[in-house]
Amino acid sequence: MIKTRVSAYAPASIGNVSVGFDCLGLAITHPGDTVHIEVGDDPGIRLVDIQGDEGVLPKSVERNVVGVVIQSMLDALGRNDAMAVRLDKGLPLKSGLGSSAASAVAAAVAANAFFGNPFTKKELLPFTMEGERLACGAPHVDNVAPALLGGIVLIRSTNPLDVISITYPKNIYCAVVHPEMAIATRDARAVLPRTISRATAIRQSSHLAAFIAGLQQGDMELIARSMVDFIAEPARKSLIPHFDAVKRAAMASGALGCGISGSGPSMFALCDGEKIAQRSTETMANIFNDNKIQCETYVSQICENGAVVRNKK
Ligand code: HSE
Repeated sequence: MIKTRVSAYAPASIGNVSVGFDCLGLAITHPGDTVHIEVGDDPGIRLVDIQGDEGVLPKSVERNVVGVVIQSMLDALGRNDAMAVRLDKGLPLKSGLGSSAASAVAAAVAANAFFGNPFTKKELLPFTMEGERLACGAPHVDNVAPALLGGIVLIRSTNPLDVISITYPKNIYCAVVHPEMAIATRDARAVLPRTISRATAIRQSSHLAAFIAGLQQGDMELIARSMVDFIAEPARKSLIPHFDAVKRAAMASGALGCGISGSGPSMFALCDGEKIAQRSTETMANIFNDNKIQCETYVSQICENGAVVRNKK
């Protein structure tokens, strides 16, 4: 049955998690984006309102991730429903927290509920990737997959799509600091090395494998030893002022590891427990603040379930 009004919430996510460039991501509980859909007056999608974007995001269906995702679902279903869509951005733009992914995922989950759930959650992933293609130029999955499915997700392959949910110790908390500056994922991808050496490939794959083993065995020390980014961090850290000092602050506060959230500028630390996450967040934020950079902070558990329908009427 078609719902007349639905809303869906999708959480922020941390792409790469330092150790798995483009192939690992995790969801945090907040902040997040909400998409509301109601029956519209005429066939087709109309983006009637966007809140929380400071007027920056386009409202044309073809240029907004929400419009592109819902249109790709309409096309797949061979429908042309009248849909009035509103987007509430809880996530800062260009923050490295999966802002476009949260919008894309909230749109897909809301539209699916609006249509009466013709797709399973996993089947929504290809539609959300269309949003990432528009926003970042590459349909990477390390934000949309965890925002949709929740938890920590490993992407073995994008074509064919093969994503694996990884079990993890429930006591892991994330300390997240978003300094007030913007980095477009496209720009952060432009500074990456085009090739890596065999030695780097071996080091990174062994650390990723060990990290996954650490998560599954609940071995915090192994998690800590494994959380090293040999690929993106060396190339990108100069884009974030005071990166080394902020990372040192997190590690001195007892974090398991610290790095760039997705393509930055947000930085994150994984911590064994809420107290350490709280302390890490404060000490990381202090470094930015001492250098006259304002920041937002978030302390969050890993979001277990990912995107959810918020109301059904
Ligand atoms: N994995 C991608 C990148 C997107 O680091 O460029 C992260 O949000």
